[in-house]
Amino acid sequence: MAKRKMMLLINGAERMLICDQESDTLSDVLRRIGLTGTKVGCGTGQCGACSVILNGKVIRSCAKKMKNIDDGSAITTIEGIGSPTNLHPLQLAWIVYGGVQCGFCTPGFIVSAKGLLDTNNNPTRQEVRDWFQKHRNACRCTGYKPLVDAVMAAAKVIRGEMTMEELSFAIPEDGRIYNTRYPRPAALAKVTGTCDYGDDIGMKMPDALHLAVVMARVSHAKLLSIDTSEAEKMPGVEKVITHKDVKGINRITFPVANPWAKANGFDHSILVSDKIYRYGDIIAVVAARTKKEAREAAKKVTFAYEQLPEYLNILETMAIDAPQVNPEYPNIYIEAPIVKGQDTREVIKNSAHVVEGSFYSQRQPHLVIEPDTNQAYFDEEGRLTVQCKSLALGMTKGVMAAGIGFPVENIRIIENPTGASFGYSISPLMPAIVAVAAMATEKPVTVTLSYEEHQHITGKRAPAFSNGKLACDEKGKLTAIEYEIAYDKGAYTETAGILVQKGLRFMGAPYTIPNAMGLSKTVISNHTNSTAYRGFGSPQCYTCSEQLMDMLAEKIGMDPLEFRYINVYREGDESLNGNQFDVYPMVEILDKLRPSYQEALERAKKESTPELRRGVGIACGEYNVTSGPNDHAEVALGLNSDGTVTHYNTWEDQGQGADIGTLVHTHEALRPLGLRADQIRLCMNDTALAPITGPAAGSRSHYMAGNATINAAEQLMNAMRKEDGTYRTYDEMVSEGIPTKYLGISDTTGQTTDLDPNTGQGNPTAEYTFAVFMAEVEVEVATGKTKVHSMKCIADVGVVGNFLAVEGQALGGMEHGIGMALSEDYDDIQKHISLIGSGFPFINTIPDDMTVEFIETPRATGPHGSSGCAEAFQSSPHVAVINGIYNACGVRVKELPARPEKVKALLEANAEGIEIEQKKYFFGSDLYDKIDYIKANPVIVG
Ligand code: FES
Ligand code: FES
Repeated sequence: MAKRKMMLLINGAERMLICDQESDTLSDVLRRIGLTGTKVGCGTGQCGACSVILNGKVIRSCAKKMKNIDDGSAITTIEGIGSPTNLHPLQLAWIVYGGVQCGFCTPGFIVSAKGLLDTNNNPTRQEVRDWFQKHRNACRCTGYKPLVDAVMAAAKVIRGEMTMEELSFAIPEDGRIYNTRYPRPAALAKVTGTCDYGDDIGMKMPDALHLAVVMARVSHAKLLSIDTSEAEKMPGVEKVITHKDVKGINRITFPVANPWAKANGFDHSILVSDKIYRYGDIIAVVAARTKKEAREAAKKVTFAYEQLPEYLNILETMAIDAPQVNPEYPNIYIEAPIVKGQDTREVIKNSAHVVEGSFYSQRQPHLVIEPDTNQAYFDEEGRLTVQCKSLALGMTKGVMAAGIGFPVENIRIIENPTGASFGYSISPLMPAIVAVAAMATEKPVTVTLSYEEHQHITGKRAPAFSNGKLACDEKGKLTAIEYEIAYDKGAYTETAGILVQKGLRFMGAPYTIPNAMGLSKTVISNHTNSTAYRGFGSPQCYTCSEQLMDMLAEKIGMDPLEFRYINVYREGDESLNGNQFDVYPMVEILDKLRPSYQEALERAKKESTPELRRGVGIACGEYNVTSGPNDHAEVALGLNSDGTVTHYNTWEDQGQGADIGTLVHTHEALRPLGLRADQIRLCMNDTALAPITGPAAGSRSHYMAGNATINAAEQLMNAMRKEDGTYRTYDEMVSEGIPTKYLGISDTTGQTTDLDPNTGQGNPTAEYTFAVFMAEVEVEVATGKTKVHSMKCIADVGVVGNFLAVEGQALGGMEHGIGMALSEDYDDIQKHISLIGSGFPFINTIPDDMTVEFIETPRATGPHGSSGCAEAFQSSPHVAVINGIYNACGVRVKELPARPEKVKALLEANAEGIEIEQKKYFFGSDLYDKIDYIKANPVIVG
């Protein structure tokens, strides 16, 4: 291929480059010469992660072919804007305003913002938003508001109205950083483009083989044969790897921990050997010298298959006559009940008011900006080392060892700086794939999926169908709930045992409902497997129960907030699972919301027109903290010779702020030592160097790692303490033979009880978080298009460890909630392959008016009074939008997302007086029959 020599002025210096005219893009070239601050996310011009300034204009470098760039062009990348020791105001503002979560979008945003401020140093907030919209700068973590705040602050510095010092975070006089806005340590590298993510690391492994995957592009088929012969002859190819090269049992071993489970969790093949269960299953992997060679060769791998009927929807696989999709277990493989109080059939019959409805929430894609990326190699001690985005480093070792055929004790997992996952990276599939490839080639390997591959291969939020019935007495006090919820687990069972339990815990929360009967099910389909996603399992429940709450409030003529107010948990009340709480903040939360809610209702009334209907919706949410009974976490603290302390843990950082969480807990726990924050070092997320802290899931990390930190700190300080109350130095400890490093443990055994499998009663998690969301929406009657004007969240997650991180989770959660309500989906396999195709919300879809307020009720068992955070923020914000649509224009969207055409059709039906048929889904059996059967045949727990 023809090469071209070019001279470019990059970041102010002339650089000579040889590039491939036709195939190289500007991002390829910049990254090849080491400027890996320019990230590639979508790779197709949709996300702005690769933004650079070319001859004064912001462009997306992944979409700019080198043949279209003039010799002598001037290019500014993130590395040319500022450095760690000489930050640009934008970079400092990004750090200080919490603009960095995962940070993968950060260089692109900062470069883009620089392009704006170069031409207009006094923009309005809307001008900033329009700029990011125009340049397609996409952020999945922050809800965008902190990014606009950061640009406005940086512009002030540029105009000379504020100094860099004034912009910087000031440490309080008492030196305490817990419960402040102290910026996260990892932010500095992320705003300067010096942080290497997985693909950057892969590029910088000179001897690594590049992998390309061969995916099934059919959803259900028998695999008959694989032909790798043509691919093996392609240039640069070292090996084409198939199931025959897997040395273990070739299965992910992710046990389905539920007494009702009829599947064992060993159903997911690493490389397909006989049957394709979903589009995106991996048939083969090509290992070659370069990425291009690997991808070209992958096109030459062919395979023969016999097409089988594809069941892409669980309504088909739950039908009475549905054939069994996987011969190893029935289609409905977990059915878990909840039974509380009196028989709901009687209670509902005698209740003054009853509503019922059936609902569907979609297969929400996580839509991270960084596609999945993994590396594997044998380290200096012969350990099989995998670098990945995993949110569960310890677990990943365990669930892939037998499958790949390598001793678990010799597997080392390292989390790369991660461009977010929001849960999908609990799946060990891609780590297992690179491990198999490193074993088969005996060489280091690296792979970064294209965005399309990423969409097909990674799991999604489980779609769910639900039927619900809610009843109350004449005064509006809830009397009973009945429901069925069926989660579409897709092709594989991993995480099913945890998911099904969420269906027993969050339907009808956070309200006191004395009587309940329900079933939660997990069901197979041939769609992609579902997996963890922030709020795991709960948004599906709230889609049903928080709409039923509004429907019942309307039926009895009460305001939705006041109806909720009389029913939320009060001191001593029990959840549907019969558990009590150590805090009961919902009354205070709703009291706090009421004034803004009433103002919003007034505003909606005033501003509504026949064409643009305004409305207000609210929804409550609750989420658990910790991962079921017997949760366990370990961290270690070591005193260093220079008097600093190192914290060792595997608190995975998916962008949520494990670094700042670790730092503030450690600083607070060691306050008697008087250390400054910069005297605490972090050694995180390498299983060879740090103890297993457990998954960054279940909103557990801040709580579990925090308590373990306090435990380690107490041991360390006890060891250091002299009789006179002063502390030994490192040298004194060593000379007295006192250990300098201590393992801290946190364990919830005895604090919690698992759910009774026959009744769903119990309290499997140590703590809880609570929230309410309010959305102000506008529906355009002519098109059915919904705009969210504002969203407010009031939450109680205990004492806030770090406001930037916790607000960041809240704002991000609301962003995902708005996306879930209005547009996002991964259903159409041909269409939902990109950010735009999947309904990604860009900045002008997310309101600038987003607020978060806290009630900080200290938690008795929580570290420094904190609970967990993150997942309550994505429990029910989507329902606030859906309820807002109803309030605005009288249409209830029961099947998400509320795309304009759906809202329009409902509006038209309303206008014509057409009654919308009430669907009731069939879940393979009758609810009453099934519950009666379970009562007669209880499962015996051994
Ligand atoms: S726009 Fe270039 S990577 Fe997304
Ligand atoms: S911080 Fe923007 S995508 Fe993660």
